[in-house]
Amino acid sequence: MEGRGRPVARTKKTVRRPVIACVFGTRPEAIKMAPVILELAAAPMRFACRVVVTAQHREMLDQVLSLFHIRPDLDLNIMEEGQSLTDITVRALRGLGEAYASLRPDLVLVHGDTTTTFAGALAAFYQQLPVGHVEAGLRTYRKDAPFPEEMNRHLTGVLADLHFAPTAAAAANLEREGVPPERIFVTGNTVIDALLRSVRPGFRFQDPALASLDFGRRVILVTTHRRENWGEPMRRIFRALREVLLAHPDVTVVFPVHKNPRIRQLVATELAQCPRLVLCEPLDYASFVNLMARAYLVLTDSGGLQEEAPSLGKPVLVLREATERPEALAAGTAVLVGTKKENIVRELGRLLTDEIAYQKMATAVNPYGDGLAAVRIRQALEFYFGLRKERPQPFPAPPREEKVAARKDSWHR
Ligand code: UD1
Ligand code: UDP
Repeated sequence: MEGRGRPVARTKKTVRRPVIACVFGTRPEAIKMAPVILELAAAPMRFACRVVVTAQHREMLDQVLSLFHIRPDLDLNIMEEGQSLTDITVRALRGLGEAYASLRPDLVLVHGDTTTTFAGALAAFYQQLPVGHVEAGLRTYRKDAPFPEEMNRHLTGVLADLHFAPTAAAAANLEREGVPPERIFVTGNTVIDALLRSVRPGFRFQDPALASLDFGRRVILVTTHRRENWGEPMRRIFRALREVLLAHPDVTVVFPVHKNPRIRQLVATELAQCPRLVLCEPLDYASFVNLMARAYLVLTDSGGLQEEAPSLGKPVLVLREATERPEALAAGTAVLVGTKKENIVRELGRLLTDEIAYQKMATAVNPYGDGLAAVRIRQALEFYFGLRKERPQPFPAPPREEKVAARKDSWHR
């Protein structure tokens, strides 16, 4: 491949391992970078892995670091209540610039589409460091959806030297934008690596509210946090939830509420005294995905949940107007329901009353990964630094006939 990593051999006797700085700041980046960090750390003869967190999130980041036993080498601790996009960008850019100057990495790995992602790539560019973008090539081609993530990933893609696209469709987006194919590696999504490590049939919930849930009744798992849904759209989502709970007495909703005070205030006003609604703090990743595995369906505006739920055979109603993850729509396990109250009530009602419609969506598919994404990323880095001759085998898109209908009596129902 053209423009391979700069040589890292210092003298004949002392060969310096490439230093890889893994940079992230929020919960989803941490979950999806963890498998990569563990994979690089398991190859200490090949790479020196350094973990730098901006801590754009604090508690929600720390939950993940603790679960995966990751201790950052540098923690910029930038989070503030009510932080603006400019605040995050400025603090992350400055802090990461200083971090790179002291760590002197041979390559910077960023993940996804947050403000930390973009600042991490820009700070690397300013120091002429190569950038690897994990979860590259996701697109809606709408500046406002999701906001600001669509532009964050575009801008990061322009700055990146290596693009780890989770799926063939994401790779095709990048090729259409002119990224040379030899710079793109189709790896699968690392979230599936994290999921497969974490979901277990016998999982016991520590949280008493979850431990006492009756999964014989139907549990709807809800999350929402997107900036474009703040205010009225979120109010409509909450009103739809209340209506559905009143109409279906056998349904429980579990809603781990994002730490953002804007969301908490709206929850407090719109969802007070709602029957069979369990509001809780953000759950640690293991509890969350094991809860998802036992839920009836998922209602969310999250990116990551759109990837995890299909793997577990859970229908997902996506609270957005557009998605950068079309694979689950194509597989029939996800539906874009938007944020209009009537549409949410109607679609939820349909899945709660029409068994055939439900079964059509409750199909376990893995368009997003096979659990080997981090291995492929490690192999691609070895190839880039001349430590390996061949490119990694791309993540193969699963053929449609591999779909496995989720059985009604399976452990995760
Ligand atoms: C951020 C990302 C978004 C990602 C989401 C994952 C940007 C612009 N947004 O959005 O792409 O989908 O994370 O959840 O990068 N807070 C806490 N403790 C925490 C985390 C957040 O108190 O552990 C509160 C703080 O008051 C903070 C606010 O939440 O100011 C918002 O956090 P921020 O990272 O700005 O935005 P998110 O909506 O979390
Ligand atoms: N998640 C979690 N605890 C929760 C809610 C979500 O661990 O209480 C995980 C979830 O499994 C997924 C990720 O957080 O892997 C998604 O994060 P979020 O929705 O905040 O961000 P997005 O994916 O939309 O960027």
